[in-house]
Amino acid sequence: MAFTREDFGPGFKWGVVISAFQNEGSHNAHGKGLSIWDAFQDRKGKIKDNTHARIACDFYNRYREDILLARSLGFSVFRFSLSWPRILPQGTGVVNQAGIDFYHRVIDACLEAGMEPYVTLYHWDLPQALEQKGGWCHRGTVFAFEEFANLCARAYGHKVKNWIVLNEPFGFTSLGYMLGVHAPGKFGLSYFFPAVHHTALAQAGGGRAVRDEITNARIGTTFSCSQIIPYTQNEKDQAAAHRADALFNRLFIEPALGLGYPTDVFPLLKRIGRRYALWRDWEKLPFDFDFIGIQNYFPLVIRYNAFMPYIQASEVKPAQRRVPQTALGWEISGAGMFSILQQFAAYKGVKEVIVTESGAAFKDAVIDGAVDDAGRTAYFREYLEGVLAAKRTGVPVSGYFAWTLTDNFEWAEGFNARFGLVHVDHDTQVRTLKSSGRWFRELLTK
Ligand code: NOJ
Repeated sequence: MAFTREDFGPGFKWGVVISAFQNEGSHNAHGKGLSIWDAFQDRKGKIKDNTHARIACDFYNRYREDILLARSLGFSVFRFSLSWPRILPQGTGVVNQAGIDFYHRVIDACLEAGMEPYVTLYHWDLPQALEQKGGWCHRGTVFAFEEFANLCARAYGHKVKNWIVLNEPFGFTSLGYMLGVHAPGKFGLSYFFPAVHHTALAQAGGGRAVRDEITNARIGTTFSCSQIIPYTQNEKDQAAAHRADALFNRLFIEPALGLGYPTDVFPLLKRIGRRYALWRDWEKLPFDFDFIGIQNYFPLVIRYNAFMPYIQASEVKPAQRRVPQTALGWEISGAGMFSILQQFAAYKGVKEVIVTESGAAFKDAVIDGAVDDAGRTAYFREYLEGVLAAKRTGVPVSGYFAWTLTDNFEWAEGFNARFGLVHVDHDTQVRTLKSSGRWFRELLTK
């Protein structure tokens, strides 16, 4: 299927996304406090290529150039995140005015360039000062987050209409508090459960904090999600797929919608209920989001695995199945995007859906001043076809934001996994537009 921009409709929003820790650098400039990622990247062996994000893409100094670059490709939405420790170095209390001012400059640069800012409040860089008190495992972090959300809404509410509370709650709680491969590097259910619950409380509490300040704000939050496919049709594989779906897809959206945690599949989650019954937390988990952000990168093929504790399911990797994959071994499937959009839109209470991230890592190289990343262009074409097909079946999807503008710091992968439409040489900061960036420019401006 070939498509044009017009096929998506006149009001459809086209955006690009970056995040504070992955792009800004200037990790300790002008009063910024440290985040859990500043601490984590200093631990030996945590970042695969032994790099760090202390400079990253130097967005702190080059924001204007990067925003104009995004605009020149035809995008009209710029999604970025606020670094909590840049604004509140201790996570709570004393405000760093230089941090507040920096984001005013970024927002102004967006508005001057004719780009609508979509501001994410939390994209994984928890203030290290809060981690020292227990981080997301500690209830105080929920209150601190609400304070931060409220402060940001007050500071920027007159300029910013679109707010995203959390970036991928399942992503950061599972990788950071269950598997220990992301900051803060904790593992086990005794960390994971409280982290999940406090994060779910912050998801709704952050939404309320913004709503209290800006009555006409459009407030959303984002979810990592994957189409789950049972490896075979046998009962055990199907049940395993059902459990994986509860964990990967349902864990955070359902409490927000007032459905509670998926305890039907994971009775263990009832533990959270018993522990927090006194606080009447169930009343605090729902929030009426104006839109939800879908972040879909790959589908998962799941089979029964008796040895996997808790979930008794494991992934059958794309390499074993010989299907197309990216440099990170993630399956490429526009059909997966189609399916997950339908799944999330089917919830009662979901009014509008935006693809708030979608993108692919490939091994890109600059050859004679150019980067030919045909694989990435093919990826975007296929995923956009999935989005368009879903839209045509009635899914209220109103935008597509590409991850990401510039090659940036891919968390524990370091700089090795390049996702950008623009290649960045992280030693010189030279930016080179890739052919996928040109393809977007053709699509959006011709
Ligand atoms: C999810 C995260 O939000 C983003 O920070 C990350 O770089 C991309 N996906 C790619 O993994």
